[in-house]
Amino acid sequence: MKKSFLYFFALLALVSCGGEATAPQRGEDPARAANFDKTYPIVDSLLRVMTLDEKIGQLVLYTSDWDVTGPSIRDGYVDDIRAGKCGNIFNAYTAEYTRKLQEIAVNETRLGIPLLFGYDVIHGFRTIFPINLGISASWDPELIRQSARIAAREAAAAGLHWTYSPMCDICVEPRWGRISEGAGEDAFLGSAISRAMVYGYQGADLSDPMTIAACVKHFAAYGAPHAGRDYNTVDMSERWLREFYLPPYKAAVDAGAQTVMASFNEYDGTPATANAHLLTEILRDEWGFDGFVVSDYTGIMEMINHGTSKDLEEASIQALNAGNDMDMQSGGYDEFLKKAVEEGKISKKTLDEAVRRVLTVKARLGLFEDPFRYCSAEREAAETKTDANLLAARTLAEESCVLLKNHNNILPLKQGTSVAVIGPLADSADDLLGTWRGAGQVDGVKSLLDGIKEMAGSVTYAPGCDVEKEGQAGFSQAEYAARKASVTVMVLGEPCDWSGEAASRTSIKIPEVQSELLKRIAATGQPIVLVLMNGRPLDISEEVELADAVLEAWYPGTMGAEAVARLLFGEASPSGRLSVTFPRNLGQVPIYYYAKNTGRPYVHPGAKYESRYLDCENAPLFPFGYGLTYTTFSYGKPELSADSFGPKGSITAKATVTNTGSREGTEVVQLYLRDMVGSVTRPLKMLRGFERVTLAPGESRDVEFTITPEELSFWRKDMTFGPEAGEFRLFIAGDSSAEDFVTFTYNE
Ligand code: BGC
Repeated sequence: MKKSFLYFFALLALVSCGGEATAPQRGEDPARAANFDKTYPIVDSLLRVMTLDEKIGQLVLYTSDWDVTGPSIRDGYVDDIRAGKCGNIFNAYTAEYTRKLQEIAVNETRLGIPLLFGYDVIHGFRTIFPINLGISASWDPELIRQSARIAAREAAAAGLHWTYSPMCDICVEPRWGRISEGAGEDAFLGSAISRAMVYGYQGADLSDPMTIAACVKHFAAYGAPHAGRDYNTVDMSERWLREFYLPPYKAAVDAGAQTVMASFNEYDGTPATANAHLLTEILRDEWGFDGFVVSDYTGIMEMINHGTSKDLEEASIQALNAGNDMDMQSGGYDEFLKKAVEEGKISKKTLDEAVRRVLTVKARLGLFEDPFRYCSAEREAAETKTDANLLAARTLAEESCVLLKNHNNILPLKQGTSVAVIGPLADSADDLLGTWRGAGQVDGVKSLLDGIKEMAGSVTYAPGCDVEKEGQAGFSQAEYAARKASVTVMVLGEPCDWSGEAASRTSIKIPEVQSELLKRIAATGQPIVLVLMNGRPLDISEEVELADAVLEAWYPGTMGAEAVARLLFGEASPSGRLSVTFPRNLGQVPIYYYAKNTGRPYVHPGAKYESRYLDCENAPLFPFGYGLTYTTFSYGKPELSADSFGPKGSITAKATVTNTGSREGTEVVQLYLRDMVGSVTRPLKMLRGFERVTLAPGESRDVEFTITPEELSFWRKDMTFGPEAGEFRLFIAGDSSAEDFVTFTYNE
């Protein structure tokens, strides 16, 4: 009986595969998955024959006992699969293990519906790329797409179908440890990156077994917890949400992301997990999302703590009715949905709709054609950590590092120089991988010390101190090493588990003992290159003064040591630019470049009743978009193709960028706009374009941007989205602090 069912379904699926593919939607971008819009007869056939229990099983997601990221609520996941109570598993991988579990689902359940295997493939699976905040500093969506592609190939070869990425949470809160997982503070850059990641994971055809389904998370506004404490309350106006927080999620959905994860936080008093405004009105009705929504880890159960459900039964009913299709780890759907449907608290239609969405994603992945298509041990061996993957990881690591200071061009160092390497993070290969390193392993990964050794002449290493524990016993040895060498490279920062989930801090300084070590070495007067490893913007005001050069390396991944060494010794040049503002101190937080003017902008030096601090200037330590390289660039005044345009028109803005130094270098040319008068207040600047440009010494290039009504659009007073007539300022520059502008007018 079972076998004939499976055969029947397999046949049906094959027949249904001939459906029309959607045409590519964007110029150079890979198309949305070609089968994105397809519906599948097999899904209807299944829905007709499934029992209520079998349907509910498809809405249940349990973790294996491998890599849990929260409280474990049950051990018997294998029994659950066998009983048809659990149609989806996460934290189980390798071709061998997923095959074993898939065999149970396919051969031992009545209908043989294949399992969906999910995992947090966040910045690589086996080949680990820099943490996402680092990746975003590359401002290189194409390379980011490739990194997601590689992650997908490695993960798919290990039996996985689904990654919990991209994380699209905009964040201006450095205390929050998860700022490390996102693309920084800006919705425009964040959108470009989330779109690129979805294309990378899902490719042009989701049924290609080299691709995996993406999951847009954490929907919505998880990146804005009060005081930066993880899981804390979020509250912001709908206008602010729509303008500054929603665009990257939407870009990912528009790119064809198949799934969305509801966030832990509340929005406007309702937990996102059961927030119909977010999950149904915005996501489905406005954006046309047709994949499925999954809760975050025990998100449904947590509604009891939020205080909007009296128990798990009520929470489960509220969540499903609000549009949350799948329950990750709460066990509430498993336990209570049957009763809820029988009592009419959930309609059969609502249930069927949720099941349909889940089965459709399984069909789009090709799982009904061959449930084992992702489980090939040979492919797993062939795809994992290939030379090409590692090279891409090294390139992206190089592009992610941001040069913050380079006094007297101390960098790049001459190869063969004698170097003292100092600092407790210098010899840690493990920290290089950062938070959420998936199935990445530290074996074979070099530490920064190893990387520097390959390029320097002589190297003396002295850790100097512990990462955080007080104790200056190692200072003298470090000082001695610094005095003996021509230059000191200090590797300081946070251990990698100080960022990521459940890793909020109330201080954004590097641990005091490390700061003290830096002071001690600086007192020798020897030149210091400071390499920072951290997962958030830090208050490094003091450290920047003490070091001659500062390279922000984030956690650069599997090939981080090679990449950083190549940058330090000039085999490569830094080209990263900050995707998030670095404050002077925690008191300036939240600080972001798209601030509004206020009624009392600070324009008269020393004026009391203007918007400023008594004890600190308003400007950040390093603005959004900032970063140096080993050469310099000059910008000509932007030229506009016309002074004005209207609804059907556009203008181009062109600026000549020149490499004024003596080395080749890459500049990230940035376009910002300011709407001078709006029906609601507008930010001082909005990023509306960027381009990486590599120029030889003395070379000039005209960099051109097109401005259409789309670039001027915002949520107007009446909450419609569009442009308003009036004057605009346009800036083309190397970072968001630009002051020179030209103006144009938009006419209605
Ligand atoms: C995190 C998610 C993650 C999930 C599954 C949760 O704790 O918030 O980002 O995808 O666990 O591991």
